[in-house]
Amino acid sequence: MNSTQTDVMNDLPNQLAEAQSMTDKDRSIVLIGLMGAGKSSVGRRLAARLGLPFVDADNEIEAAAGCSVPEIFALHGEAAFRDGERRVIARLLDGPRQVVATGGGAILDADTRDKIRARGISIWLRADLDILVRRCQKRGNRPLLQQGDMRQVLQRLIEERTPYYAEADLAVDSGDGPHEQVVDAIVAGLRRRSDLARAAHR
Ligand code: S3P
Repeated sequence: MNSTQTDVMNDLPNQLAEAQSMTDKDRSIVLIGLMGAGKSSVGRRLAARLGLPFVDADNEIEAAAGCSVPEIFALHGEAAFRDGERRVIARLLDGPRQVVATGGGAILDADTRDKIRARGISIWLRADLDILVRRCQKRGNRPLLQQGDMRQVLQRLIEERTPYYAEADLAVDSGDGPHEQVVDAIVAGLRRRSDLARAAHR
């Protein structure tokens, strides 16, 4: 075990205590899912519906780096991007309650997954391959999708990442319908979750 892992292990009781002491009212809402799942569009609308601020983690990474996500990948590589992504998401989740749209690969990082578990309510926006391909074709600036056939890359990412996305507190389908419909499903899921928590404390 290296020293970072030892620190994480030593900190585990504190993280667990923090997670247990937080109610949903304190937790940020964290949207996860693949590129093209609609995290930013749905997140912005969800935040408006809940009266919370909205933040897009990729925009925050760009602001911190002073350049765009494609430039970070090109100039510094994916590992440097992931490093910034982990630090930015930790900072956002340590702050006041808000709706956070994460980049599709954020959940690959174990510290980020722990942080989301401790301080967030995670919502997986699930979309099928055809929909993802269609939406990603409309925005051609995603570095991982420049590395070969877009459909094949997305298919591979679905296979690699689904186990992580499936750990989310809620999963909501993000299909061809209006974004507001997805927001309705999320709000209903959040309500069910708080009803269950209330019933458990009775
Ligand atoms: C990535 C998704 C992108 C962005 C970066 C890497 C990924 O965000 O963070 O290009 O690894 O899936 P979106 O999911 O918002 O497109």
